[in-house]
Amino acid sequence: MIVCIPDLLTGKELDYLEKALSVADFADGRLTAGWHAKLVKQNQQLSKTPDTEALKDFVRKALKRNPLFQAVARPRAIHSLLISRYQEGMSYGRHVDNALMKSSGFLRSDLSFTIFLNSPDAYEGGELVIEGADSETPYKLAAGSAIVYPSTSLHRVDPVVSGERLVAVGWVQSLVRQAERREILFDLVTAQRSLFAKEGKTDEFDLLSKSIANLLRMWAE
Ligand code: NI
Repeated sequence: MIVCIPDLLTGKELDYLEKALSVADFADGRLTAGWHAKLVKQNQQLSKTPDTEALKDFVRKALKRNPLFQAVARPRAIHSLLISRYQEGMSYGRHVDNALMKSSGFLRSDLSFTIFLNSPDAYEGGELVIEGADSETPYKLAAGSAIVYPSTSLHRVDPVVSGERLVAVGWVQSLVRQAERREILFDLVTAQRSLFAKEGKTDEFDLLSKSIANLLRMWAE
């Protein structure tokens, strides 16, 4: 399941981030790639300083308060956050994200996300392309929007032809490890909310709520 989340960040938050990033130091992105992803990774990422940790916290908070992100990802941990910059000619070739990432101990990547920090009009090219079994789909979202996709997929960032692409990327270790189960829960919660909006707290609503809670008890780890 691939889900786009509109307006994860407000205009005010984007202004603040853009201003902070315009004077921040960026380092070679290959520092945080696995040995084979290093071969195709060509971008820059925000250097680690106390100031940049505060910026990442800011992004993490936006994810935590967003109900759609919570319903899609059911995060146990949001981790390994990076703020990346692609200038003219930069790209990130086809790769799969590392399954385990070092944090305090190792955390699993179940879902990957990209938050677009500047306008798609600010750069040409630079699409995030996610591969399916026999198809591929390019994504280039509005500033402040996010895409969440399974970390199991091959993906790439096409070369930026002109301008500059700014994104925050990161990973989620989910309470519900299997994507199929997360999708079932997401569909049931969507139906539950819609039923409540139409008819209130009916007998059917109570049964649906019971099933969602009991599936979570079975599947959460
Ligand atoms: Ni990736």
